[in-house]
Amino acid sequence: MSTKAYNILLVEDNAVDARVITEALNKAGEGAFAIQRAERLSEALEKLRTQAIDLVLLDFMLPDSEGMATFTAVRKEAPNVPVVALTGVSDESIAIEAVRQGAQDFLVKGQAQPKTLHRTLHYAIERHRVQAEQLKQAQGGKTGKVIGVIGARGGVGATTVALNVATALAKKHKDVIAAELLGSYSAFYDHFFYKKSRAALNGLNALIKLEPPRITSREVERFLVKLPSGLGLLLGPQRVEDFKEIEPDKADALARALAGLGSYVVLDLQSHASPAMQAAVKRCDFVVVVIDRTPTCVAAGKVTADLLQQLGVIPVRIGVVVVNRQPLPLSVDVAEVLNTMGCQLVGVVPTATDACSEAQRMGAPMVLGDPQGTASGALIEIADRLATEQILGK
Ligand SMILES: Nc1ncnc2c1ncn2[C@@H]1O[C@H](COP(=O)(O)OP(=O)(O)OP(=O)(O)O)[C@@H](O)[C@H]1O
Ligand SMILES: [Mg+2]
Repeated sequence: MSTKAYNILLVEDNAVDARVITEALNKAGEGAFAIQRAERLSEALEKLRTQAIDLVLLDFMLPDSEGMATFTAVRKEAPNVPVVALTGVSDESIAIEAVRQGAQDFLVKGQAQPKTLHRTLHYAIERHRVQAEQLKQAQGGKTGKVIGVIGARGGVGATTVALNVATALAKKHKDVIAAELLGSYSAFYDHFFYKKSRAALNGLNALIKLEPPRITSREVERFLVKLPSGLGLLLGPQRVEDFKEIEPDKADALARALAGLGSYVVLDLQSHASPAMQAAVKRCDFVVVVIDRTPTCVAAGKVTADLLQQLGVIPVRIGVVVVNRQPLPLSVDVAEVLNTMGCQLVGVVPTATDACSEAQRMGAPMVLGDPQGTASGALIEIADRLATEQILGK
């Protein structure tokens, strides 16, 4: 289990009640909970939109919302965050109704002892996690973490990052998959099969001919190319006649099916905001935006980060990788990049022109062919960081 404190959002307008609960949790929790408070529903929704909250402790009677409407609004904003209802003695029936509709539990204010409070919250988080895993398994086997990689502009090094990160993950974890979800020319092919004759490895094209319900983990598995490194690849089209925009419901089904197959799935998504990209990011546990340090690319990175947030990806699930492909006369420093984009830094990849060319010639990403190189070191660190709980959540 994680040693990290759980982030609890206490939604309670009454200051005395809030203090009693916070003190009780601090007393029994021994640092297990980091508690923050919202006094109004609007404030709670804003926090749920922008932060990684592990559980909501929710009073239904707030200045700007009352009764079941409060619970419904929270569920709508954050369907994957467990809720424990806080009620007065007289409105227990509403709490029971909330449990019927998906709240994990309820507590009657003034009656819960510190130990009961502590145990209720812990159980609620654990029960919710188990239920979520069971649901995912029912939908398609394992429960892999999905990492989306998006270039803020074309040619910034997104595919190089995606493939090296996936390969580094495959060295340490089983069943890692890299997939390209793009309607045109497969870049993966050239990274691994450079100068080899173009074989019929276009799994993506075959899969998107199926209707979404038929794009299952089992079906996708048939089209994965297994590399000696252990990495599984789903390759996009290589011939013009196969180029085809992926419909959003198919991109969604593909991302879901892939998550059912791997411990980590790295999706190489298009740099332009295609409908497929927009659908796939909603299935991602974390999205990496790759940029270079030109002012234009940083501005494009900001637009990408804004778009991701509009699509519902919360800021803590977005990170930046800076690739220094070449020395630049006009380059933005990293602190300013982060300030502009409002995202955390996942890593900086130094210039590695020779290692990139050699990797392509050898048909193996540089983390394999040149593991001691500085760029490889940075990419391995990025993979390690992405695999931590802090980034991908529990
Ligand atoms: N760290 C680096 N140092 C030097 N060159 C690099 C580095 N990373 C990537 N490159 C080179 O930059 C070019 C573009 O890389 P890549 O194909 O990964 O970018 P992309 O963002 O996926 O592009 P596209 O928009 O075409 O999908 C390639 O020639 C690659 O070898
Ligand atoms: Mg690419």
